Amino acid sequence: MTDTLNIKITKVDQSRLPGINFSDLPFGKVFSDHMFIAEYENGVWSNLQVLPFGPIPMSPAISALHYGQAIFEGMKAYRQADGKISVFRGDKNFQRFNKSAVRMAMPTIPKEIFMQGIVELIKIDEKWVPNQDGYSLYLRPVMFATDPYLGVKASDKYTFAILTTPTGPYYSKPLKVKIETEFTRADEGGVGYAKTAGNYGRSIFPFAEAAKEGFDQLIWTDSATHEYIEEAGTANLIFVIDGKLVTPSIRSTVLDGVTRDTIIHLAKEAGIEVEERRISIKEIIEGIKNGTLTDAFAAGTAATVTPIGEISYHGKLYILADPETRSISKGIAKTLNDIRYGLAPDKFGWNWVL
Ligand code: COI
Repeated sequence: MTDTLNIKITKVDQSRLPGINFSDLPFGKVFSDHMFIAEYENGVWSNLQVLPFGPIPMSPAISALHYGQAIFEGMKAYRQADGKISVFRGDKNFQRFNKSAVRMAMPTIPKEIFMQGIVELIKIDEKWVPNQDGYSLYLRPVMFATDPYLGVKASDKYTFAILTTPTGPYYSKPLKVKIETEFTRADEGGVGYAKTAGNYGRSIFPFAEAAKEGFDQLIWTDSATHEYIEEAGTANLIFVIDGKLVTPSIRSTVLDGVTRDTIIHLAKEAGIEVEERRISIKEIIEGIKNGTLTDAFAAGTAATVTPIGEISYHGKLYILADPETRSISKGIAKTLNDIRYGLAPDKFGWNWVL
């Protein structure tokens, strides 16, 4: 892709790269030298630029802060075995970003701005893409409403930005999770399927309460009955029951995860039966008790494929099979990584090699 958009480039005087310890990269804390910005007003995107990462001046009255018109994406760029850089399934993140935008009454972003922003940013911060196994450059496109106006209505002005952060996996060990039956993440007819700030904001208090009891994550359940599993907030959920891959179907309360979709494709290709359907807590607990549930994992861009080691429901803790014995998720995770790092054929055309 060439730059046909007249993106203004302003480089840092001095890169922060020499001061970065690439063997200690906690998720989302270290930002690369540059960011991409575009501004929207009166139906037009303009002022496209790559500039040094840093604060953006803004009014404390911007409506994103007051009413939550803010959406984002999470995607990753990988250093491939031959040294090239490839972004994994960028198209799917682009489509979901605009789906979120529509739900939040925000303007959609043209594909060339979304994609070219990534290209220019990675070109300039190419050295920030890690080359250790399991590491990548996490890309965080975000859009927020910038009208300094306190009336509750769709903003007339927006900023689109892309930040990048070199990172390893979000979780570093098998998860101890709690099935949440008091608080809810999303409701039918709401915004659960959109990657919008409020979905994450509302989950922070319930998660903080669970963290006090030693949990790493919550499993959200449906708001109407709290009997069915939905997702984990930071990732989708996938189980192996009777040798089949089973995952909650996508509905208005569940994010249509890119990693989830990728795993479904890879499982089917490997001849594993896949069921996308409602899954009751009862089925999960019985499966653990009678041994038919042999695997459970979180699947997400940040989370990658993270085994669930323990599940708590109504105060009772259930221990799952040793993650080392879980051949299905281990096999899929390996295939997925091999494709991302250019070590296995990319049959589905998922790698966007820059
Ligand atoms: C991602 O997987 O990219 C996400 O956006 C999850 C994040 C909130 C941790």
